[in-house]
This record gives sequence, C-alpha cells and structure tokens, in this order.
Amino acid sequence: MRRSVELLGALLLVVALAGAQTAQRANSATASDDRFFVDKIYPVLEAAECRMCHNDNGVASATRVHFPPPDAKPDAIRAFGLALSAVVDRNNPDASLLLRKPTARVAHGGGERIKKGTGEEAALQSWIAYLAKLTPADLNAALSRLKSDRGPAATTLVRRLTHSQYNNTVRDLLGDFTRPADQFPQEDYLHGFTNQAEGQSIPPILAEAYTVASEKLAATAFRHGDTQGLVPCKASSPSDAACRDRFIPEFGLKAVRRPLTPLETSGYTTLFTQTATQKKDFLAGIQLVVEAMLQSPSFLFHLEDGPNGASRQYGIASRLSYFLWDTMPDAELLRAAAAGEFETAANIRKFALRMMDTPQSRRAFEGFVGQWTRFDRVLGSVRNARQYTDFNPSLLASMTAETKHLLNHLVWGYKNFIEMFSADYTFLSARLAQLYGLDAPPEDFGVVKYPAGSTRAGILGHAGFLTLTGNPTETSPTARGLYVRENFLCQEVPPPPPGVDPTLPAVSAEKPMTTRERLGAHVGNRNCSSCHNLIDPIGFGLEGFDNVGRFREKVTIRTAQLRDAVTNAQTASRYIDLPLDTKGYIQ
Ligand code: HEC
Ligand code: HEC
Repeated sequence: MRRSVELLGALLLVVALAGAQTAQRANSATASDDRFFVDKIYPVLEAAECRMCHNDNGVASATRVHFPPPDAKPDAIRAFGLALSAVVDRNNPDASLLLRKPTARVAHGGGERIKKGTGEEAALQSWIAYLAKLTPADLNAALSRLKSDRGPAATTLVRRLTHSQYNNTVRDLLGDFTRPADQFPQEDYLHGFTNQAEGQSIPPILAEAYTVASEKLAATAFRHGDTQGLVPCKASSPSDAACRDRFIPEFGLKAVRRPLTPLETSGYTTLFTQTATQKKDFLAGIQLVVEAMLQSPSFLFHLEDGPNGASRQYGIASRLSYFLWDTMPDAELLRAAAAGEFETAANIRKFALRMMDTPQSRRAFEGFVGQWTRFDRVLGSVRNARQYTDFNPSLLASMTAETKHLLNHLVWGYKNFIEMFSADYTFLSARLAQLYGLDAPPEDFGVVKYPAGSTRAGILGHAGFLTLTGNPTETSPTARGLYVRENFLCQEVPPPPPGVDPTLPAVSAEKPMTTRERLGAHVGNRNCSSCHNLIDPIGFGLEGFDNVGRFREKVTIRTAQLRDAVTNAQTASRYIDLPLDTKGYIQ
C-alpha cells in the first residue's frame, strides 16, 4: 500500500509536468504500480538511446546500468527499472549518478543525453525519487516477485557446427580430408566469432550446400567398397539384418554424438532395407544411411543433449571435444559418456587436461586465435603499391605467424596472460625484423627482445594488428580504437547513425592536417563525440606506428592535386611532413 501511495506521488510529479490530459492515465497507472516505469520512464530512456552503449556487450557494459534487449517483456523492463537503484543516492537523490551522468552534470562517457530542465529530465527525477524511497527490503521483495512471475524460460538458440568443425568432423567420422565446408557460403562473424548461434542462420544456399556435401561424402566413402572400414562386420547378403543392426547404432552414435533414439534407429533401418533390397547391394543401403545421417539436424547442430536433455553426459563429451579439439568426440570420450564419467567436475577437469595435452588442442587453439585476432582480415589487407613496395602475401603471413607464436608461448608455456599486451619481446621472421628495424633472430620466429625504451609492446605492437586496422594509404585511429573495444574489451560500439556524413575535412597544401587533427574536428561535434570519444583516443596512442606497423616519428601527408589559379596548370601533389601527437587515453 505504501508503495502505491509513493508511486502516486512520483506519478503526479510527471503528470503535473506532462500537461492537462494525463489525469486519466494517472488512474490507470496506479492500478498496477511499476507499470509506471514501463509506460512513462522507459520510453524516455529509449528515446535518449541509452541502450546503444548500456547493454551487455556495449561500451558501458562494465557499469551498473544494463538495458534489457529491445524486445524485452514488461517484467524484464520493470526489473531493470528497479535495478537502477544501484545508481541512485538514497540520501541525496539529486546527487544520483542516474541523474548526473545522462545530463552531463558530471563527465559521462555517453555525453549529454537528457537536457536539463526538460520534461524528460523531470520524468527521470520522478523515478529517482521513487527509487530513493524504496527500502532495500521493498526492493528485494519487488524484484523477487518479478522473478517468480516470469513466464517460461526464453527459448535457447541451438548452435550448428562451424565450417571448421564440419570439416574436422567428417575427417574423423569418414576419413575424408577434402574439407568440403571450404566451399560453403562464408560464415558471419558475430561478437568476434563464427560460432554464435544468433549469427548462424541457415539460408537456402547453405542448406543446399549441406545436401550436396552429404551426397558427395557418402559416395566417396564407398566408391571402392568400404575402404575406410566404416562397417564393423562382413555382410553375408545384400540385406544382412545382423550386420545392419550393428552398423546403424554404432555409426549413428559417432555421427550424432549420442545413442540414436529408437525412432531414429527404425527410420534408418527402413531406409537401409528399401535401398539394399532394391539395389541388391548392402553397401548401397549403408551409403544412403550415411548420407541421411549427414543431413540430420542432430549431425549438423549441437543437439547432443538429446531429446529432453536425456543425454547430458554425451552433451558434455561433445562440448569438451568441440571446445578443446574443434571436432567430434573420440571413442574414449563417447565411452566415458556411456559410463557416466562426467558426473563430477573433477573428472571433467581430468579429461580436459588430457585433451589439452594433444596436438589437436593446439590446432583448435590456433583456430580460435585466428578468429579472435581476425587473421582473415590481416591476410586480406591491401596497401597502395606505390607507397608500400614490398607489401605482399608472404609478409602478411609472417604477421599472423608472429601473433600465433606469442599466444602459443603464453598459453602452452603457462605464462601470465597479461603479457599478451605488455610483452617486451616478440617472435620475428627476418622480413618482420626488418620492418621493425631490429636485428633478425638466428632462426625464423625465434624470440627477439625489444631494445630498452621501445614503445612497442604486446599484440598492439604487432604488425598484424597495426595493419588490419589501417586502410590502403593511412592509419585509422578509429579502426584501431574500435578493434580494441570490440576484440579485447568485448564491447560493441554502435555503428554510425544513418545520415551522419563521415567525411573528414580535406587536407590541402594550405591546410595540412594529421589524421588526429582531422578527426579532432568531429570529436568536438556533440553529434559525433558521444561515440568517437570512446574510440578514437585509444587509436591516437598508436599513431607512432604507420599502417603496416613501422615506427614513425612524423607523418608524411599527400595533399590533393591543385590547379594553379593563373596558368590553370596542374601542380603535382605535394608531400608535407607533420609532427605527430601520440598521446592516447581510454575512457
Ligand atoms: C555513447 C555511449 C553511451 C550512451 C548513449 C549512454 N551512456 Fe551512460 N555511460 C557510458 C559510459 C562509457 C559510461 C562509463 C564511464 C562513465 O561513467 O562516464 C557510462 C556511465 C553511466 C552511468 C554510471 C554507471 C555506474 O555504474 O556508475 C550512468 C548512471 C549512465 N551512464 C546513465 C546513462 C543513461 C541514463 C543514458 C541514456 C539517457 C546513458 N547513460 C547513455 C556511455 C554511454
Ligand atoms: C553511434 C556512434 C557513432 C556516432 C554518433 C558517429 N559515429 Fe562515426 N563511426 C562510428 C563507428 C563505430 C565507426 C567505425 C565503423 C564504421 O566505419 O562503420 C565510425 C567511423 C567513422 C569514420 C571513419 C573513420 C575511419 O578511419 O575509418 C568517420 C570519418 C566518422 N565515423 C565520422 C563521424 C562523424 C563526422 C560523426 C558525427 C557527424 C560520427 N562519425 C558520428 C560510430 C559513430
């Protein structure tokens, strides 16, 4: 009762500000108390685009303000509204960060989002006043009421095999080394990786590719008889039931990484019998079963927990194996699942350690590093050929090798992982040593220590990072800062809003400017600074490295070609040296 009275107080404040025809709405809002937040306050915060940064992956993800997803149910929004008490000062509501940050009364990473003296600010203040009066006990009660009211759990998305998992799985299942998934449509990166369920749609063209691949894989497997030894018995007739009944469950277990259900078994049995009888050929029946299994959702997706989660042990075996080996579980993991050996954390750990001690896990780790640090983008970098004469694929390959060497050294040598960013040493080929201005190590990718006073350190000093974030002619502090936010701080920066004109001021012989100065022009603009202040200054700190990773003390800019006003003759473009400011910061 007390709560609804207070709420009414808070509400009336908004009503007074919002104008005449709101009295009716006030009545309906009191009927269900914290709908007030959903109906009146949340839209204000939505309009101010707080969620752009304050989400689970956003640049403000480390703060206490996390917006629910755009399609959140009212209860989740209510719970969020109550959780904002964390940024409310109960003794002095006007000093609350929830008021002072978005109105830029104190420095705020997101800048001024809500103007002082407006109805929006008043709405926010009314919510702050309400939260300030809630006792911690009230708050907990309200939150737990919302929790218990929450409907069925959200549907979980199912991940499918990544292309590399597909290649490795058919290799281990069928002995097929042709890497069919290399021909599939390219995968999307989401949150930096290709294994994120939300990023794994199955467009018709991929479904088609799965079908074609399964036909080809099955045909290849039995082209010259059962050369891979996939059938565990010798068939005495085209429809030998005993051999069929061994093959289907044994192979099925490996293909879907859990025991087949009775329904699946009988389906595959019928399929086998029809074909083998018709063609009078045992292996023709087997081939069709294999083809069908390769098209089964249980093969293509991570559904190892089985219908209703009945096969949790197999689910764990598969998770271990795809995580640490990037491929299907081996016979030992499947055996352990059958024996229920993944019941205890200690046992799972024992298996994980055994698995990490193998070449497969090193390969899987390199695959992970390649995705995390975007080797695809390093290898695809292009540079203006006139400016960078010896820029070629082999140089790019040694850049990715350098990063791989450092991370292998840290992980498999059980080193302090912070050295990823602070290492005062690296692993260089002769070509890279030349690029860095260092002596080459005696053998390629031997360790090289940076000279005292060198500003190069860790992966942010690697040519690969410095190259992939550059463009063909110049560095991009924006791209470097964005990469650090996204790949290393795991925060997503929202894309530029539609309609912003991203052209920077042009440079001319009269007005030569460094990239920093050109970007500075829009960092000063409020429409741009809310995002760019969070990105560009990180990159400014790396301006001492050019866009292939060489040291530089000054930057040489090329001014546009000019026409002489009197003679109309074209003057050659000019090169001008400018000093560099390499101070950076992170907000
Ligand atoms: C462009 C990105 C961005 C937007 C948009 C944004 N913020 Fe922020 N906000 C930040 C960052 C970054 C921080 C952390 C650094 C700081 O405190 O300034 C922050 C901090 C805060 C904090 C302090 C949180 C804490 O745990 O101390 C509050 C409160 C806050 N923001 C409220 C808001 C509100 C309300 C809105 C919308 C009206 C909003 N912000 C919009 C980036 C943003
Ligand atoms: C909502 C956040 C946001 C706002 C607001 C914003 N930008 Fe950006 N901007 C980005 C992001 C993220 C990138 C990098 C990704 C991209 O290029 O799409 C970017 C890239 C750029 C680039 C390219 C830099 C390079 O080296 O690649 C320029 C130039 C730029 N923005 C200018 C502006 C200007 C001018 C404004 C204001 C009128 C503005 N932006 C407003 C987020 C924003």
